[in-house]
Amino acid sequence: MPALVLLGAQWGDEGKGKATDLLGGSVDYVVRYQGGNNAGHTVVVGDQKYALHLLPSGILTPECTPVIGNGVVVDPSVLLSELSGLNERGVDTSKLLISGNAHIITPYNVTVDKVTERFLGKRKIGTTGRGIGPTYADKINRVGIRVQDLYDESILTQKVEAALDVKNQVLTKLYNRRAIAVEQVVEELLGYADKLAPYVADTVLVLNQALDDDKVVLFEGGQGTLLDIDHGTYPFVTSSNPTAGGACTGAGVGPTKISRVIGILKAYTTRVGAGPFPTELFDEDGEALRRIGGERGVTTGRDRRCGWFDAVIARYATRVNGLTDFFLTKLDVLTGWEQIPVCVAYEIDGRRVEELPYSQTDFHHAKPVYEMLPGWSEDISKAKSFSDLPKNAQAYVKALEDMSGAPISAIGVGPGRDETIEINSFI
Ligand code: GDP
Ligand code: IMO
Ligand code: MG
Repeated sequence: MPALVLLGAQWGDEGKGKATDLLGGSVDYVVRYQGGNNAGHTVVVGDQKYALHLLPSGILTPECTPVIGNGVVVDPSVLLSELSGLNERGVDTSKLLISGNAHIITPYNVTVDKVTERFLGKRKIGTTGRGIGPTYADKINRVGIRVQDLYDESILTQKVEAALDVKNQVLTKLYNRRAIAVEQVVEELLGYADKLAPYVADTVLVLNQALDDDKVVLFEGGQGTLLDIDHGTYPFVTSSNPTAGGACTGAGVGPTKISRVIGILKAYTTRVGAGPFPTELFDEDGEALRRIGGERGVTTGRDRRCGWFDAVIARYATRVNGLTDFFLTKLDVLTGWEQIPVCVAYEIDGRRVEELPYSQTDFHHAKPVYEMLPGWSEDISKAKSFSDLPKNAQAYVKALEDMSGAPISAIGVGPGRDETIEINSFI
């Protein structure tokens, strides 16, 4: 059985953690391939709620091997505290594997993220402040620190020196901050080496051998399609590739191995941080979605911006990811509205536009064209099959499927593992 990718089809927080955890029981490996602890993935198992940031959601399934791929950026202190937090709750984390090629989020990357945002003022991106952008920038600038560097003090020192050479100039002269001492950073990083050593592996080899042995590998995206550095609403994006292609580069697995790409799609839309969002609501409907949907960031605690479902974005996600299926989440949150608006196209400067405009200027001017769909008032949280849903909820799902360009193979009707309607099996 080849590999599957599971990724966010909107601006993140679609329910990837729950969906990954649900599939965890049927897969052998769950792999994070990009991003870092900017992610906040919530998994609810029975009466236990887990908030995962860096660890793959498969960590909660004992049979599953969780893998942090080469494309991820790793903050060692966050990783170790996430691991010990889970251990205290009785979760066995000993199977975790971390790529030696993954880049490390150093303390100076976190500082640079924060001061840069402050410097941008009104133009800020609203990052999570976790050092994600500066770490990927160092990687591309070839001054990054990798996990494997923790095991060669001389190389580590040279690399930290190279990275801080320029950064200290910028920090002191431009941002009016104190310089960061090389020795202090090296000492802190070396302090993580022994603790991480049991997990470090050649994950590319492990995953390709697993696929050769017919094991099932699930790639779990962080963030979402519209936050992708290449395909998202640049510059209001994250600094990695959450889209499907990122799974190949971020884990060292060829595209021919991937048979299924599942887009996680919320039944409405949310966004955290700055940037365009055509269906955003500023009225009591937006407030209600936020309240009923519990739309507050898992990582930064910020309120999420809320709006109606946007089919233009869903179609775009289908295209750029080659989606084979959707997992529609949070349908239960829409219970109680008499009519539910769905954005079917945009109006841009008087023209009707069916597809996401490639020009940032056009997208900033896009106004949603809504179609009204009839709502339902019955509680759907106990529904186990599609036919258990009220007729209008069925019609809402079917309408979204027709507009979005891929079959909806599962529907979330609550946060719990069992609050899911499975229509087509994923594996
Ligand atoms: P992720 O970042 O994509 O993993 O999503 P988050 O965990 O940040 O946000 C999704 C939130 O919705 C979490 O609080 C989940 O527990 C919750 N959730 C996921 N699926 C459903 C669903 O079908 N219904 C409801 N009501 N909540 C859900
Ligand atoms: P999950 O995996 C929602 C957003 C930030 C900001 C932008 C850049 O839980 O879906 P960064 O710190 O990555 O440089 O911030 O991206 N962002 C997310 N929004 N969910 C996430 O992750 C996000 N990770 C980053 O709010 O707008
Ligand atoms: Mg999240």
